Amino acid sequence: MFELPSLPYEKEVLEPVISKRTLDFHYGKHHQKYVNTLNDLIEGTEFEGASLEDIIKKSKGPTFNNAAQVWNHTFYWKCMDSASKESSPSDALAKAIKDQWGSLKDFQEEFSKSATSLFGSGWVWLVQKEDGSLAIFQGQNAENPMSEGHNPVLTCDVWEHAYYLDYQNARAEYVKKFWDVVNWDFVSAQFEKK
Ligand SMILES: [Fe+2]
Repeated sequence: MFELPSLPYEKEVLEPVISKRTLDFHYGKHHQKYVNTLNDLIEGTEFEGASLEDIIKKSKGPTFNNAAQVWNHTFYWKCMDSASKESSPSDALAKAIKDQWGSLKDFQEEFSKSATSLFGSGWVWLVQKEDGSLAIFQGQNAENPMSEGHNPVLTCDVWEHAYYLDYQNARAEYVKKFWDVVNWDFVSAQFEKK
């Protein structure tokens, strides 16, 4: 049985970028629902007892969607922390970003553009490809870059439930503010893990 992992901070910590009310629903209701549905779906199947990563790599349809949504949300919470906690990309990540996009600002602009232009629901990721280079990966719905063999480094949830209570339909505004709460220490560690 999968359980909802605890949040790495209190629910008001991301304010004013993301409100406690959004986390009450997004973490408390949506993330929890994906966990519950996944448990129901895998009961008595070959996936009972498998790791979340294995289920993501091997399943399709509703099982994939719910497993990936569980993983994606857990990763998304870790990608953020209080805006008052200053962090910046590690030297290694900063260099890789500079090599790929010219500067951190240029990368952020590209990532934001990708997050804003994604049609419908999904996730935008910074990934490290198998050759070690960085790329922006735009994923529809529950899509997870591990399915393509990429290493996830950073993600932004652009499903409406991530921002509607705080920004209504202004996704671009949410994405702009998202950078204030990115936890570069966690993100850098994902890059260096590879
Ligand atoms: Fe979400």
